[in-house]
Amino acid sequence: MSTSSSRVVDVHTHMYPPRYVELLESRDTIPLIRKFPGAEDPRYIILPAEAESLKNIGDDASSSHLPGRPVTSHYSSLKQKIHFMDTHKIDISVISLANPWLDFVASEEAGETAKTVNQEFSSMCAEYPGRLFFFATLPLTAPTDVLLSSIENVKNLKYCRGVILGTSGLGKGLDDPNLLPVFKALAANNLLIFLHPHYGLPSEVWGPRATEEYGHVLPLALGFPLETTIAVARMYLAGVFEQVPSLRMLLAHSGGTLPFLAGRIESCIVHDGHLVREGKVGPGRRTIWEILKEQVYLDAVIYSEVGLKAAIEASGVDRLMFGTDHPFFPPLGSDEQGVWESMSWNREAVEKALGVGSEGMERVMGGNAVEILRLREDEV
Ligand code: URA
Ligand code: ZN
Repeated sequence: MSTSSSRVVDVHTHMYPPRYVELLESRDTIPLIRKFPGAEDPRYIILPAEAESLKNIGDDASSSHLPGRPVTSHYSSLKQKIHFMDTHKIDISVISLANPWLDFVASEEAGETAKTVNQEFSSMCAEYPGRLFFFATLPLTAPTDVLLSSIENVKNLKYCRGVILGTSGLGKGLDDPNLLPVFKALAANNLLIFLHPHYGLPSEVWGPRATEEYGHVLPLALGFPLETTIAVARMYLAGVFEQVPSLRMLLAHSGGTLPFLAGRIESCIVHDGHLVREGKVGPGRRTIWEILKEQVYLDAVIYSEVGLKAAIEASGVDRLMFGTDHPFFPPLGSDEQGVWESMSWNREAVEKALGVGSEGMERVMGGNAVEILRLREDEV
């Protein structure tokens, strides 16, 4: 274990707790968990891009072409999470429910389901005090009063440090004015939003060969980051960051492609006749660059120093936080109980971008998260 001044903190690491697994097992449309005859493990089938393969496969599937991913203990066993942390010398993990959260839950059930799931996260953290914190889940399909009262509920949970949120919001995206009270309540309670993709882009953009030939590469490598980029760009254009200046967001996968595209977004704004005529481009406008440095944090889940350097340039070395995305992307050619590339590639990217043992590296690997998310022993 590292010393207290150089903690390693994983801020992007998921769990599917028991109540959530039951929920997925009870369903027959995605997201769901399904057993296939002849296959050893049931499968998590959660991504919109997997719906097509599920439809094509029917019930009598050969185990070589099953949709989704096997339900291994890595998805819901707390012991397994701790084993992963110990194997990779991770001192603290800030765990979160994995996608698609409660986005699909019926309105009248969402509030109670959120309470149960958040309670499960609290109990997991309490089993390993100081090693585990969590981002809570919101019942976004519930009536507004239930949704707002769930924020009141999670703010009082000892190990809760924020909420994980997808990009659909109340169904119309994160630039929906009806979400402003939610953003204001989160900001007022010092709850960070961990923004995470799930829906990707419409499957037509991947072309007719994708489902059969290209696996999950296009939706995960490109759909996910573009979804995040688009969601934040829409919030920015709608003025959400101006209206809620104390809102703080941690963007998954180093902000999607925002650090790379922020310049182009700025150029398109100042050259847009409609925005200029409406007086939206005048003096005093905070640029997307300023938002990236003032209201946004980025995780370091980008697997290469090239992307990581762009993220550091865009938001600053004091706003980047290490993550692994465990239990997704397990090693396929070696023992799952051993070292995962998601740890070693992301760590190497930090080393190459900032220098082994540098102050910047110490900050990104854990120092920033300890400060930003209040993870010190006396803050538990
Ligand atoms: N695939 C997912 O569905 N979610 C993740 O977080 C990563 C990969
Ligand atoms: Zn993730």
